[in-house]
Formats: sequence, structure tokens, C-alpha cells
Amino acid sequence: MSIDAPWWTTAVVYQIYPRSFADSNGDGIGDLPGVTARLDHLALLGIDVLWLSPIYPSPQDDNGYDISDYQDVDPLFGTLADLDELVAQAHDRGIKIVMDLVVNHTSDEHPWFVESRSSVDSPKRDWYWWRPARPGSQPGEAGAEPTNWGSFFSGPTWEYDEASGEYYLHLFSPKQPDLNWENPEVREAVYAMMRWWLDRGVDGFRMDVINMISKELPLRDGDVPEGAAEGDGSPSYLCGPRIHEFLAEMHREVFAGRDGAFLTVGEMPGVTVEDARLFTDPDRAEVDMVFQFEHVSVDQGATKWDVLPLQLPVLKASLGRWQEGLADVGWNSLYWNNHDQPRVVSRFGDDGEYRLRSAKLLGTVLHLQRGTPYVYQGEELGMTNAPFAGIDDFLDIEAVNHFRVATGLGADPAEVLGALRTMGRDNARTPMQWDETLHAGFTDGEPWMAVNPNYTEVNAEAAVADPDSVFHHYRRLIELRKTEPAVAHGDLTMLLADDPVVYAFTRRLGDTELLVVANFSGDPVKPEVPEYAEWATGELLLGNLTNGSGPELAPWEARVHRRKVAALS
Ligand code: NOJ
Repeated sequence: MSIDAPWWTTAVVYQIYPRSFADSNGDGIGDLPGVTARLDHLALLGIDVLWLSPIYPSPQDDNGYDISDYQDVDPLFGTLADLDELVAQAHDRGIKIVMDLVVNHTSDEHPWFVESRSSVDSPKRDWYWWRPARPGSQPGEAGAEPTNWGSFFSGPTWEYDEASGEYYLHLFSPKQPDLNWENPEVREAVYAMMRWWLDRGVDGFRMDVINMISKELPLRDGDVPEGAAEGDGSPSYLCGPRIHEFLAEMHREVFAGRDGAFLTVGEMPGVTVEDARLFTDPDRAEVDMVFQFEHVSVDQGATKWDVLPLQLPVLKASLGRWQEGLADVGWNSLYWNNHDQPRVVSRFGDDGEYRLRSAKLLGTVLHLQRGTPYVYQGEELGMTNAPFAGIDDFLDIEAVNHFRVATGLGADPAEVLGALRTMGRDNARTPMQWDETLHAGFTDGEPWMAVNPNYTEVNAEAAVADPDSVFHHYRRLIELRKTEPAVAHGDLTMLLADDPVVYAFTRRLGDTELLVVANFSGDPVKPEVPEYAEWATGELLLGNLTNGSGPELAPWEARVHRRKVAALS
């Protein structure tokens, strides 16, 4: 069957967090030659695209998401020549390279900001958001900030600049000032930089918090949630009034008319299905797909630190709604993990007795949906959250600041630590586990962050050698997307919406129907899927047990069945 669909509908993307992937020079920090040396691991897995988290020069306040030069490589990670070599070697293996594009903000050490800060009359003053103190207040005093917004990394979103007597906006850390996208010069500079990277041979961009670039004017106070010290500014900056205009302009200025096969994915916290339909409608030419956050918020309360137990029906309803909402227009990205999320096998699976089986189950449920799957480094090994002993083991600015502020306001340190252990981003950032040698083969030196001690059991060398490993299960899932068109292109129908432990859905294309059925529990279960007895005696396309059969699913068992049906006319 020939299907006219963009190339990325059958593609799988692998995300690398370079500082934690592979260290080639013994300084304890992963680097680009380290990535290049491991390309064969990725080729064996079968991925099509590699997304590199930021490798640009940076003071590393937020591990590279604070960029001080968009057109170079931080010496920590290598050189531009190393990047060219990685691109060339990846292309030789049929793997595309997608760069992280962080343009909601720069580093405060970026020459644009240094210039902007130098004087109220600077030609670049208006490249950032500068505002006077709140009328009637003393500049620099608590409460004098231009708006009451709280930042993502704790504290206010405004930093007082004594020299000029004004404040600048930073939705993230004070070292990440927000760019003013209202200024056409800013937009032109960003587009020129993007074109420079494409000219250099990269294949697209993952766009960091890109739905925050348009702010609603005038900037104004947000509601203060109960118990919070600061206001919620998000209505003023999530999917603001010009966001579609800016992304359409970016597409026109950077991609339109350019030869090649590119990928654009916009990271969009708080995006709704309705917005996502607009962002990803090919006729509107904005981005190919977005990262939404609903399904990774189902176990969180008012903030990400209010940890709730997973309720499977809520997770299914959320992912099901996205599948339905983007069925006829637009496209989904599919992910459990990235560098900001805890490890999924610890989060929604069982990282103890059923680690291998539940990791495979989670991969199966995700990869069998309609959309482009993203695999985060180590997910293909079933890597788990790390056993952080105390606050000193946490290195992430978000975790460190939250602990300081929350305990300062009287929270119980043990409870705050508990939430950090469950939701903290550091879980994703422990070094990649390559083999059972010291530091998991990640580095010959001292790793910048401790390796998870389970590396003697959980590592790539062991997984590649074992045909029943999570690695080979992921390899088969990726292969299936390319060999069974119903996986990439079929319709999806959710089943058993209220079932507390069974995740089930069908996919259908032409005369092929697939049934995915998965037991999210440590007890056996008989799925109440209509006609399951017949399905169960039919073809088992893929499963996470060597000989799964019969009407009952074992603990954490997942199966993909296939059957022929009358083609829909
Ligand atoms: C989202 C990135 O994924 C995260 O790691 C970063 O801290 C913020 N954006 C700020 O750039």
C-alpha cells in the first residue's frame, strides 16, 4: 500500500542529553566525539533522528539551556568540527540530526543581553523585556517587581538591574533573560541563525518552550494560587496572541522553499489539543508536531511536586483525547521520557521485580500509538530513577532552588526530598549506562554526576547481548513502525476507558486490525476486550513474554495482536 505521508510519520527520534551520554576525553562530561563513537548503538536500535540537547557555549546555569552563543559549540562538548563530523557520520548511517533551539531566552552572558543591559539607550535594549518598578514602589524592594509572576525555577520572574534601575523578565533563571519577540530584529536574528544551522547540514529543530515567545500586552499580574507566594503569569505567556503568527513567519523565513527533509517539534507546556491542531495543521505551515504535557502531569497536583498516585483511566483518557484530537488534522509526538521527566519505568511501571517487563510494556503502549515516538537515552535499557541520598546529590537548578525555597517557607525537608526523588529532573540526567565497568563505561574520569549503582545489571552491553532485553524489544517496536503500515497510519480506537489496570486500543488500516492490550499491574488479569478469546488464539505480532497466550494477561504483560478484517470502504 503506498501512503502519501511526511517522512517523519514512520520515523522514531532518539534524544541525547550530551553531558550524560558518553565522555570521550575523561573530563567526566559527555561530549560530541562521545556521541559519534556510539552511533552504532543507535543504528542498531533503528532510530531515524537524533535530537541533541543544547551543545552551544553556555555558562551551564541550566545545563546548556542558557545559551551565550547560538553559532558555536561549548568547549565542554567539543568543537564545530566535532559537530560536523557527528552530522556526517550520522548521515552516513541514515540518521538525521535535530538541534535544540532555545530562543525564548538567551543566557545573560549572551552578547545581545550584555549589550541590552549596558544602557537604557542601547540599540538592543528592546531585544529583552525591560520594565520599571511597579508604580508607587521602591525599585529593588520586595514586591516592586513589574508583575507578580513566579518563575519556573522558584522566586520572581523579574531581576532588578541596579545600574539602570529597571527589571528584566526571566521566566526561568535570572541567567535566562527572555527575548522580546515583539521586536522584528530579534526574530530576524533568530531566523538567520536557524538558516545557518540548516546550511551547515542539520535536519531540524526541537524548539524549547516555543509557545512562550509571544507575551500578552500589557504584561500584568496573574492570579495567586492558594498557598503560593507568587502569581501565575502563564495566561500572559502560554500561547500568547502572536504565537501562530510568529511560528508561521519562522516557517516561511527558514524552511519554505528549502530542499530537504526537515523535522520541527515545538515544546509547548500547557498546550491544548485545540491549539495543537492549529500548530500542526500542515496547511498552516507552523511546526510538524508539538510536545504536550498533559499525560506527564496526571500524577501531579497543583505543582509538579505534589505527587499523586497514577490512575490509569486518567492517563488513558488524556492520551486517548490527544489521539482523537489529532486524528484527522495534525500529528502527535509520543513520549514518556526526556531530560526533564523522571524515568518512566519507575514512574508508571515497576522498577523492581517487573522492571524488564514493565519497561517493555510501556514502550509497547507508546510506540503502537499514532504519532512520532521519542526515545530518551537509556529508556531503551529500562534505566530507572536514581537513589538520591540527600539534597547534596541533586544538581539541577530547579531541584536545588525548590528545596531551598520550600524548606525556607517551612516545608518538611524529608517530604520535599521525597518529591524530588520521584519527580526531579536529575533522575533523567544520571550518566548513560554502557557496560559493567567502573562508571558504567560513561567516562574514564570522575563523572559530573554519580552513575546509578544499578549499572552492573542495567547496561547497554548486557542488553544488546540478550535477545529478550528491553533494547531488543524497542528495536522490534521501531522496526514494526516501518514494516506494518497500520502502526504509523492506522486509525486508533481506545477500549476499556474505565478499566483500572488494562490499557487497550485497536489500530486499523485497510484490512488490517491490531489490538494492543497491556496489564498495568502486578496481578494477572483477564482483559474484558470484546472477542478477546478469538484475538488471543490469533496472531501475536509482538509481546513482552516469550510465550504469552491464552485469555489471561500475566503481571505487566503486553501483547500486540493482528488480524485481517473486511476493509472499510
Ligand atoms: C525546557 C527544557 O526542556 C528545560 O530543560 C529547560 O530548563 C527549560 N525549557 C528552560 O530552557
